[in-house]
Amino acid sequence: MDKFVVKGGIPLRGEIATGGAKNSALPVLAATLLTAQPVVLRRIPQVRDVRTMQRLLVDIGANADADGECLRIQVADVRSPEAPYELVKTMRASSLVLGPLVARAGRARVSLPGGCAIGARPINLHLAALEQLGAQIQQTHGYIEAVAPQGLRGATVRFERITVTGTEDLMMAAVLARGETVIENAAREPEVSDLAALLGKMGAQIAGAGTSTIRIQGVERLGGAEHTIIADRIEAGTFLVAGAITGGDLTVTGCIPEHNTALITKLQAAGADVVELSASKLRVRSSGGLRSVDVNTAEYPGFATDLQAQYMALMTQAEGIAIITESIFENRFMHAQEMARMGANIRLEGNQAIVAGRKELTGAGVIASDLRASASLVLAALVARGETVIDRVYHIDRGYEKIEGKLAAVGAQIQRVE
Ligand code: EPZ
Repeated sequence: MDKFVVKGGIPLRGEIATGGAKNSALPVLAATLLTAQPVVLRRIPQVRDVRTMQRLLVDIGANADADGECLRIQVADVRSPEAPYELVKTMRASSLVLGPLVARAGRARVSLPGGCAIGARPINLHLAALEQLGAQIQQTHGYIEAVAPQGLRGATVRFERITVTGTEDLMMAAVLARGETVIENAAREPEVSDLAALLGKMGAQIAGAGTSTIRIQGVERLGGAEHTIIADRIEAGTFLVAGAITGGDLTVTGCIPEHNTALITKLQAAGADVVELSASKLRVRSSGGLRSVDVNTAEYPGFATDLQAQYMALMTQAEGIAIITESIFENRFMHAQEMARMGANIRLEGNQAIVAGRKELTGAGVIASDLRASASLVLAALVARGETVIDRVYHIDRGYEKIEGKLAAVGAQIQRVE
């Protein structure tokens, strides 16, 4: 199993590029199931979750031709409308094929995702929404069996809780349903809007994506399209924190600054200098002397839960006490214990982490528990005195493309050890 070996203490300097968004690539790839025509997707990140989704689509019946960041997918026929446990257990976002398969093929058999390190993460809201569109859903032997022999029909669906992939799954079901679907209390994440942009190019009729109310007028069929996905705001945010925590001077390129407003506001309040150089470039500088600033994770445009761990690493280096409240997932503080092994002073109380900052961190052996936790341990290791060995970095490969290469190019002493 690969490990990262990191020697800390070097301010990062230079330009670092952002790739396409993993959390846009996954639903956008699932959307190719909705048409028999070819869909060409650009800026698809070469990360493990994307490869898993590609494999799933090919198992279902897709032809996929990859050429670097460009992917041409065509699902002329849905050969087997199934997402097997072997794949779903490695990536719960596989459940995103449920809506498109029921809409396109009238049936789907999708393994239930099972537990996750950061929380229970059920998909009950996805299922309830599809039932409102007329799908009959059963659960047997760990699988969801969904059928809609007469096709789906539009309905008004109000999510009792905002769900990102739930909104995306329902959108993909509704575009081929008879009549109008209204999604209320919908997720407003940029990835939802990016999916709607692709579906619109395929011929779908969607209004209000990016707001809490999305209206979809179903159509008979969808066509092919070409689409370049948005930048990864979580990767860009991780790099902004890397610049601030190391006391460096980094320019993050290829990003969309407005997608990171919540993080930028917190970094500036903590004393980092963050400047928008252009519509796709952010510069972060810090000369140390950071102040503690509380944060509460929330749905977009609030502070992203996927940046909470990285922000916690930063707060271990800030003067004062920072209270970090995690409001989205019930078990997303696994990284705190690992940072404590490096000397951080973090107390957990329910869904709050109380970080008593500016503690010198020292290198240690630590274990990554999930994708964003592993990114936070890399950030902590970049400021720790001495060497840190991060185990189970396969987690980071799920959502970051060659992160050690990108960080090394701006001065980090980081190596992957197989
Ligand atoms: C998406 O997950 C992202 N994944 C997550 O990113 C991200 O953390 C999350 O949204 C929140 O922003 C992808 O886009 C592939 P939710 P998702 O449904 O859609 C509860 C990363 O690091 N809920 O918005 O699965 C759920 O348990 C990943 O890249 C139900 O109870 O998250 C959670 O507490 C991690 N029932 C809350 O809602 C449901 O049916 C929000 O989850 C659905 C969700």
